Amino acid sequence: MEEMIKTLPQHTCAWGKVKAYKYQEFWTVKPFLEATILAQQSFKAEPSDVFLCSAPKTGTTWLKSLAFAIVTREKFDESTTPLLTKFAHECVPLLEKAQVVERENIRKNFNLPLISTHLRYASLPESVFSSNCKIVYIYRNIKDVIVSHYHFLREGLKLSMEDAPFEGAFEEFCQGISGYGPYWDHVLGYWKASLERPEKILLLKYEDLKSEPKSNVKRLADFIGCPFSVDEEKAGVVDNIIRLCSFENMSNLDVNKTGKLNGSMFENRFYYRKAKVGDWKNYFTKEMEERIDKLTDEKFNGTSLLL
Ligand code: A3P
Repeated sequence: MEEMIKTLPQHTCAWGKVKAYKYQEFWTVKPFLEATILAQQSFKAEPSDVFLCSAPKTGTTWLKSLAFAIVTREKFDESTTPLLTKFAHECVPLLEKAQVVERENIRKNFNLPLISTHLRYASLPESVFSSNCKIVYIYRNIKDVIVSHYHFLREGLKLSMEDAPFEGAFEEFCQGISGYGPYWDHVLGYWKASLERPEKILLLKYEDLKSEPKSNVKRLADFIGCPFSVDEEKAGVVDNIIRLCSFENMSNLDVNKTGKLNGSMFENRFYYRKAKVGDWKNYFTKEMEERIDKLTDEKFNGTSLLL
């Protein structure tokens, strides 16, 4: 594997601090790349699995919390759920982590059908297709993703905004160099697949989840195969889950204010920044806005996608 990795296109990015590799048309860093290759070689998906897929910074943490709360609601309520004391990324494992690739570990540790991944659709392990398991994909306005990505990396690298100019991050993003980017291709892959296999692939948009949480959380639950009953709805179960997983609630929990995953350079709180739609307006110049709109129009020409 080491020899193969050496042959891949490389780019030093994030203000000269991170080495990224281009593998199967997407950019990532070495630990995730190695785990991706392992996962592609050995991961065995099962028909009952539900994959939560996303490009980074599009609402992954939120989707994980919601899906976890939905599938575990008979076991836990909003006062006993592990989401109160465990980071969402610990409740739902990420596929491309070496220790997670072993399917048995996932079963033992989690005993849940949920697995997350940032991989592009075309790079998912073959067994995800052959098992015909379900996929939920969340995506988000590209400009807000760029800003979120910028702060996340900057904070992970412990750089001030002066030491990490936004312009550099913007430029790299436009060139497609972002976590699992190019972002447009990431979205397009799942979008196309959702047209071909609508019964197996659900697309959710971050902004829709924000503006209409109830209908979208119900869609999510229906799709996962855990629909809310009329009695549950009457008893306020949907509203409770929305409240539990809200940014306001989650970002104020101790675990999310002070915790950090073992070995990670990212503190849990970096996953909970502002959660605002349109925060990009505080960072983009007119030229940046026009450039990204033009790129997006070109990439999404002929699709119904709007970012
Ligand atoms: P901002 O940086 O714009 O605040 P991911 O989970 O894919 O890494 O995405 C992180 C983004 O989702 C961050 O966006 C974060 O604030 C936002 N987020 C995290 N938890 C959220 C929640 N419960 N509700 C809405 N947005 C959330």
